[in-house]
Amino acid sequence: MKTRALILAAGKGVRMKSDLPKVLHPILGHPLVWHVAEAARQATGERPVVVVGYGADQVRRALGDTVDYVVQDQQLGTGHAVLQAESLLRGQVDQVLVVLGDMPLLRAESLQKVAAMQAGHAGPLTLMTIIQENPRGFGRIVRDAAGKVAAIVEEPQATPEQLKITELNPSIYCLNSAWLWDALRRIPLSPKGEYYLTDLVGLAVEDHLPVQASLAEDASEAIGINNRVHLSEATALMRQRINTHWMLEGVTLIDPAATYIEPEVQIAPNTVIWPNTYLHGKTVIGAGCTIGPNTLARDAQIGDNCKILSSMLESCIVETGSDVGPFARLRSGAHLGPGVHMGNFGEVKNSYLAPGTKMGHFSYIGDAQIGEGVNIGAGTITCNFDGTHKNKTEIGKDVFIGSDTLLVAPVKLGEGARTGAGSVVIHDVEDHTLVVGVPAHVVRRVDGHD
Ligand code: UD1
Ligand code: CA
Repeated sequence: MKTRALILAAGKGVRMKSDLPKVLHPILGHPLVWHVAEAARQATGERPVVVVGYGADQVRRALGDTVDYVVQDQQLGTGHAVLQAESLLRGQVDQVLVVLGDMPLLRAESLQKVAAMQAGHAGPLTLMTIIQENPRGFGRIVRDAAGKVAAIVEEPQATPEQLKITELNPSIYCLNSAWLWDALRRIPLSPKGEYYLTDLVGLAVEDHLPVQASLAEDASEAIGINNRVHLSEATALMRQRINTHWMLEGVTLIDPAATYIEPEVQIAPNTVIWPNTYLHGKTVIGAGCTIGPNTLARDAQIGDNCKILSSMLESCIVETGSDVGPFARLRSGAHLGPGVHMGNFGEVKNSYLAPGTKMGHFSYIGDAQIGEGVNIGAGTITCNFDGTHKNKTEIGKDVFIGSDTLLVAPVKLGEGARTGAGSVVIHDVEDHTLVVGVPAHVVRRVDGHD
């Protein structure tokens, strides 16, 4: 049984009051529609198809080639949107799982349940329903005397009695492909000049074909985003969901309400995360670490038993047992080997610090290779940029760099070399050699003290 998901994402989303298409507003680092596409892919095991229209190019750029696209030039309604996929899907799949691009909280399991129910169903469609007091403008599920789904009524067309119905249509349908395409053509034009996908239910009932409902256990999954209040509500729920997952996996979150973990982050057990910590992108954190408070990591790889305090880490590697911060910055390509100490107010970019190296205070290390057991004195700077090129600094193992040394790259310091405080090193230094200077010298007595 082959099922492909069709994600409707052609609308502008007027109530967001934004030029950005609604489905591209982000939740925890990814556009709304990315979350939907991930769930849809997991549920079906196939590439989702996305219907694009408003801001089509932007949506394509955001999702790239992880999905297929069909274009709906004019937004003539949800039924019309689905019809745009006919040439791609007709005869190619058994079932089409229709999902909206603005429902980021949908779980793959819930979508899969709808698809599986339809797979074993004699009728042409299964729809998800939710029961909820606040109708949020959703269509109402009308059932007949026998309790069977008879129709979906849109809020503007609903009678006062129908408006009281608490069973709602989140717009998740699994449809039999052999029935779907011709049925779509039979949808009448609505008073608002649109073709409503919801009319398929009435059409099936007219044909005396059974319609099946799958009541979702958790109505909050079907929060559709129409404005920025909904966006913040969904963000909070997703954050809670992710945080709960990691706590159950053995990660301590001191204050989950102040911890922001994006969906692709990985964390091993027995790590403790202090408040005001932001874990972005594909960050991976080992076991037994202490992270935060006040830390941001984006695409960082952190080994076991590391301590990261009040620091910012981007596209970097920190190996087992290293400690970083407070107030350290690791930029792209920074790589701390095992057991490195990087204290306060340091910055490392595109550099490797071998095991056991210590850089305690106020240093900038850029485009450098640093050997094992090196001591980097306070205020050491690699002068890596000559105004035109980035140049390399190489430091051998067991080197001792005196405080406030300027290493004017390209430059090499051999194994066991030492520099005196305030040295400006412009030539390579041999192994086990001490260099000093430029030393301060007397220029004159200060005014009034001749
Ligand atoms: C739709 C349902 C309603 C349901 C609600 C859930 C219909 C007629 N109504 O109403 O029963 O409770 O969703 O949110 O289907 N879209 C397109 N092309 C179009 C029109 C819409 O791609 O021509 C996309 C939009 O980008 C949006 C989604 O479909 O993501 C839903 O469209 P919208 O107009 O918001 O439908 P609702 O009025 O919310
Ligand atoms: Ca809507």
